[in-house]
Amino acid sequence: MNVGTAQLTARPVTPPSLRERAAEVLWANWTGTSTVPSRDLYPHQWSWDSAFIAIGLRHLSPLRAQLELETLLCAQWGDGRVPHIVFNPAVPLDAYFPSPDFWRSTTAGRTAGAPGAVHTSGIVQPPVHALSAWLVHRADPGLSRARSFLARVHPRLAAWHGYLLGSRDAGGAGLASVVHPWEQGMDNSPCWDAPLSRVAPADPAAYRRADLDHGAAEDRPTDLDYGRYVRLAADYRDGRYADGAGAFAVEDPSFNALLISSEYALARIEAELGLPDAPEERAARADALTGVLVERLWDAAQGMFFCRDQLSGQLVPERGVGGLVPLILPALPRPVAAALVRTTHGPHFGLGGAARLVPSYDLTGSAFDPRRYWRGPAWFNTNWLLERGLRLHGERARADGLRRALLEVAGESGFAEYVDPYTGRGCGARGFGWSAALALDLLLDDPAGRDEGELRGWTREGFGDD
Ligand code: SER
Repeated sequence: MNVGTAQLTARPVTPPSLRERAAEVLWANWTGTSTVPSRDLYPHQWSWDSAFIAIGLRHLSPLRAQLELETLLCAQWGDGRVPHIVFNPAVPLDAYFPSPDFWRSTTAGRTAGAPGAVHTSGIVQPPVHALSAWLVHRADPGLSRARSFLARVHPRLAAWHGYLLGSRDAGGAGLASVVHPWEQGMDNSPCWDAPLSRVAPADPAAYRRADLDHGAAEDRPTDLDYGRYVRLAADYRDGRYADGAGAFAVEDPSFNALLISSEYALARIEAELGLPDAPEERAARADALTGVLVERLWDAAQGMFFCRDQLSGQLVPERGVGGLVPLILPALPRPVAAALVRTTHGPHFGLGGAARLVPSYDLTGSAFDPRRYWRGPAWFNTNWLLERGLRLHGERARADGLRRALLEVAGESGFAEYVDPYTGRGCGARGFGWSAALALDLLLDDPAGRDEGELRGWTREGFGDD
């Protein structure tokens, strides 16, 4: 027997662990100052992607996680908005549409205070940033204090929330409105079909979709929807990004729940910075906003939240996963939280039954499609949020089940952008930033310890009147 060969064949081949594979994705998508969601489909920095990515990245490199948020916040506009895309000047213009020459932030955005040194889009995305900044701080408080991380990001985060709660309060009740489906993040959810139907699509000859170069057409929005997105964005740009006069304005439960959750996180940041009175006031405002959310968007008969179309004044009767996301709120009345848990596990969302992960849209809805972007597939960020919400409201066994399912599907799908909710089969991009980051967060956070420590960042504990 040849000894050398025997030694070679005997050496065990260990496949990389889920942790190693997730880390590989985050290292591969790192550009030096931030992380791209996907090298091909999304080659720039996206706002809510970066916030979720930093939550996972903090376990690998707290320094990079801090830089991720700092890079994004450096592109903030003078009026407080944090743009949904920060463009990388090294990427060719035709790699992504709408490109910087479409948004023209440095000229059309000048009145609203767009920065001159960097090109950005002019719309926003959900405000997950203060929550992310607090969790990033907690990963290495020593490094954070040494770099004055929270002291530097706090004024920007406060201005960001001020913009949303001021200029974006189209309904006058205290909740923020989104003015484009891309702002809410669940781009072509059936929740937008009715409000979007009054928008005339842009001329398809006037632009070229770059997303279809990298994603299968049946996984992506239709050309008709895309034409409407382009028209809405172009009209907003042509109005110099002034708020208040657009053809689309919707109060969305997920966007506002993330804002409220980030308000609690900002209160914690203010307490850590020793700002007098601010934390109590901010937490009290978050409690009050939770009440407004329930008053305006909760439907007790259906057991979930719905979007309100500001132009018609009506709730939109479509069940999107965004209507479950308020489960992350600590001051939710107990019967509301209990009903949300039931709805998540009932026939419309199927968790613990027909579905492996919570779909983005009603499994029984007429518009349901298990593969097409936000019209049915399951996403890792919304499922991660629901895992947090279940745990926050004492549903430990259900949260553990969802955590297991998320980790299994993340590994099987190669950290897909989204998956078929029944089978877990991957759709869209692979090696997707937040899918890897949030899997890492679930893997590296001890779920038992999370109830006591980590989860505290999500509660209102310490602000009185619990
Ligand atoms: N998610 C949108 C896209 O597909 C815009 O941010 O490009």
